[in-house]
Amino acid sequence: MGAAGTDQPKGAHHYYSADEVPFAISKYWHQRYNIFSKYDDGIWMTDDAWFGVTPEPVAQKIAEHVATAPESKTVLIDAFAGAGGNTIAFALSGRWKQIFACEKDPQVLACAKHNAEVYGVAKKIWWIQGDVFNALSKQLKGLAKDAVVFGSPPWGGPTYADYEVFDLAHMQPYSLDKLYTSFSGPASHVVLYLPRTSDLRQLVKLAEDDDKLKVTHYCMHGASKALCVFFGDFELD
Ligand SMILES: C[S@@+](CC[C@H](N)C(=O)[O-])C[C@H]1O[C@@H](n2cnc3c(N)ncnc32)[C@H](O)[C@@H]1O
Repeated sequence: MGAAGTDQPKGAHHYYSADEVPFAISKYWHQRYNIFSKYDDGIWMTDDAWFGVTPEPVAQKIAEHVATAPESKTVLIDAFAGAGGNTIAFALSGRWKQIFACEKDPQVLACAKHNAEVYGVAKKIWWIQGDVFNALSKQLKGLAKDAVVFGSPPWGGPTYADYEVFDLAHMQPYSLDKLYTSFSGPASHVVLYLPRTSDLRQLVKLAEDDDKLKVTHYCMHGASKALCVFFGDFELD
């Protein structure tokens, strides 16, 4: 038995060596310590989760930026928790009274819970297995006014990287409009993690009145990995 234990649910893996890793994932596996510095402590991933996980240094920086929301915002809702990259960073920041993490795929959610245990923060997080749009209209409805909703949605697969300018209106399966409308109805503070080539003109259209929209690129090794757009009052450097 290795550090990952023997009780991994179906679909969750801890790959120990390069020869176990499916070809499509090997590029990500080679970056595993950038993704989770505690990888060797037994991190679990589904094969799909590798493509969408936010690398730890980026997740940490995002958590710092999201923490600058007004003090009245005491709740953090991670709409698309995946394997826990962002959720763990939010929990480690110590900024939030309550953190809710939604994930519709039970195998991926099992990875996120386990990974949060590896980082010692699992007990700080309320886990919701299911559809976030449904959760926001039901069990999270009352809390959302005190919350920042953070969303790192699926980007429609790796082909997003093929576009010089990424069309957010046709992002799959949820368009920018769907995300913005569903999150900014219940919550005044919303942060979306989007492809680095996202069409800024589409984002600007969502700015209210004379408001300036804050967009931050997150870089590693001198190259942007992605950007976040911040709706609401955040004090960014
Ligand atoms: C890009 S990944 C999130 C990665 C995450 N930030 C991390 O660092 O591990 C998007 C996740 O959203 C989940 N998802 C997609 N639609 C959802 C929905 N309607 N409600 C909740 N989760 C959903 C997918 O299963 C996937 O795990």
